[in-house]
Amino acid sequence: QRLDLDLAAIEKGGYEHFMLKEIFEQPQTIYDSFRGRLDVEQARLTLSGLDAIQDKLLAARRIIIVACGTSWHAGLLAEYLIEELCRVNVEVEYASEFRYRNPILDENDVIIAVSQSGETADTLVALENAKKKGATVFGIVNVVGSSIARLADAGAYTHAGPEIGVASTKAFTAQLVVLQLFALKLAQLKGTVSPERFTELVKALHAVPEQVEWILNNQLDRIKEVARKYRGARDFLFLGRGYNFPIALEGALKLKEISYIHAEGYPAAEMKHGPIALVDEHLPVVFIATKDPFYEKVVSNMQEIKARKGRLVAVVSEGDKVAETLAEDLLVVPQSDELISPLLAVIPLQLLSYYIGVELQLDVDKPRNLAKSVTVE
Ligand code: G6P
Repeated sequence: QRLDLDLAAIEKGGYEHFMLKEIFEQPQTIYDSFRGRLDVEQARLTLSGLDAIQDKLLAARRIIIVACGTSWHAGLLAEYLIEELCRVNVEVEYASEFRYRNPILDENDVIIAVSQSGETADTLVALENAKKKGATVFGIVNVVGSSIARLADAGAYTHAGPEIGVASTKAFTAQLVVLQLFALKLAQLKGTVSPERFTELVKALHAVPEQVEWILNNQLDRIKEVARKYRGARDFLFLGRGYNFPIALEGALKLKEISYIHAEGYPAAEMKHGPIALVDEHLPVVFIATKDPFYEKVVSNMQEIKARKGRLVAVVSEGDKVAETLAEDLLVVPQSDELISPLLAVIPLQLLSYYIGVELQLDVDKPRNLAKSVTVE
């Protein structure tokens, strides 16, 4: 008797695709990226890579974040976080632009490189150039021992484990966690965060794995329904504000990558300067409308779309009573602190693009024309 071992099926651990497996691993991978670094009881955070360049960081006039693709979205969110918590200027750059721009850099600058693979050519060359000019490089990388990890002066691994699906999911949330830890630690060193706020944020972060689990256990049916409903759409708009603007960009990127449906992410308030012209009864508009200081404003943006007959889907916090009167479909996430909640809001968007890709019978693990790591220019 012969045993036919389908290695790929075994590697997928019972899931139909790597992408789904990796989305479902997130309660664990998110936990892994702060495990051993975060002591909630003592409100203590250890990020040894950051200690190694502490003096440089404390003296830095600005921090520049360099990345590509999904990693760039993590970087954009970090700009909001680090500026808010650490009161230092942050710039976020596409590595491919930055490397050719002859940027003004010297030994007072700290560059954070965000990369899943640690091999993206544009990011790598951008860092080499920055190092030549004397800047200090901090790497936030998933693949241990990769080129960017080796080139960096210091760094912190994301510990998401191998990511096989070409579209990044668990590596993205791990990047967000490490960037949140980075911001919290630097804020503590600079004295720009109160002990109470620090504890609040650390607790909120600690709650995330269970909250992601809740989404995975409770929202799948709704997400599949929305995927079925809109699988034929030609375009999608994703809108969010503040910390959720980068999540809107990431939601749109995931959908493009996996379903080949044209999608744009926009800051919700900016939509009136162009994208609103696209709105009609065929256009699905996905809002991230979780409970945060922007909530009321986002709700009024939703009303503007509804008045133009756009099809509203909203990612909302549990218990929301207002958005349900506006949106046709609600994707619910647990309530969290506004700085932490993007980690939750992105999960239904990853699943939405996955299920639309599956509905369209596409190769979700290996979308056409895309590569997991882009080692050429
Ligand atoms: C490719 C991948 C994306 C990834 C980007 C940056 O385009 O398909 O998923 O976000 O490269 O890759 P990196 O490994 O540097 O994060």
